Amino acid sequence: MPLATIEWVGGVDGCIRLIDQTLLPTELKYVNCDDTKSIWHAIKTLMVRGAPAIGIAGAMGVVLGAKAIGTDEVDVFLRELNKVVGYLGSSRPTAVNLFWGISRMEHTAHANKGKTVKQIKELLLQEAIKIQNEDKIICRKIGENGAGFITDGVGALTHCNAGGLATADYGTALAVFFKAKEQGKQFKVYADETRPLLQGSRLTAWELMQAEIDVTLICDNMAAHVMKLGKIQCVVVGADRIAANGDTANKIGTYGVSILAKEHGIPFYVAAPVSTFDLSIKSGSEIPIEERSPEEVTNGFGKRTAPEGVKVFNPAFDVTPAKNITAIITEKGVIHKPSPESVQAVLGRRV
Ligand code: MRU
Repeated sequence: MPLATIEWVGGVDGCIRLIDQTLLPTELKYVNCDDTKSIWHAIKTLMVRGAPAIGIAGAMGVVLGAKAIGTDEVDVFLRELNKVVGYLGSSRPTAVNLFWGISRMEHTAHANKGKTVKQIKELLLQEAIKIQNEDKIICRKIGENGAGFITDGVGALTHCNAGGLATADYGTALAVFFKAKEQGKQFKVYADETRPLLQGSRLTAWELMQAEIDVTLICDNMAAHVMKLGKIQCVVVGADRIAANGDTANKIGTYGVSILAKEHGIPFYVAAPVSTFDLSIKSGSEIPIEERSPEEVTNGFGKRTAPEGVKVFNPAFDVTPAKNITAIITEKGVIHKPSPESVQAVLGRRV
């Protein structure tokens, strides 16, 4: 992935530069965020999106928050920083990577409370960049661990966007395809459009075409038919939060795809980093599901497609039960038949 989804520009007084993903694929525009309010807004409005990418955005957001705290007293600084962390955490509730990223930053600050505020600010910037660099390595590892599931001649279905745009680069679900392509395999990818915000058509189709991977766009309601036609031999999707038993929250519609895959005897793979696991929750029923504005459904991309005043329900994610998941591909290895035991065996204790 040649484009930087998100990057830090400059030193501790610098800013975040990110691709405004709401404008893709018709416009490639970089936006600078130089305070917590602007990065909160960028996360909330999906200018930056995808679980690992918003983990990085949150971590860099903490650096922006730290920059604006004008005290030399460490105790005061840490108290103010806790407020920054709380504020950034209020942007989106489902992807646990956000909370993982900002907590890691908070921990870094507290672990260095013997240092000066200036030094802590420097360390926070280093930590945010470390999180981003680690993600690049993790995504490649996920690609390596998952590419074996893509064999010559298969058709694979993916839902939403779990590509380079959703991570530091290279992606999770799409990393599996990128790596398989690098290995010289011939395969086709079917990309679900992903209503209502069209991450599949706007972002996944775009990324795969750039990588010269054979991609075919379908509307979400076509997946069953395409499976019945025998065009799909595996499903690979990303994740926003995975419970200790392997239940997985991902973009709305993923659960339905998992049921379709089961019905057609098609393996269903989830590709995600360890930071997407939330081992503090036993099952998917505890995952908070974000509800977004009705206008995304009634007025998508500027055209009204529903009567004024109609009631709308717009959950942004759903939970695929572990029993529908063939395996979860992580950087630490593959969790076959996810269960509390198999998750624990591959992950060990949460880092
Ligand atoms: O609402 P979004 O676009 O942030 O949802 C993104 C997804 O559901 C992705 O599949 C998930 O975050 C994994 S990204 C590697």
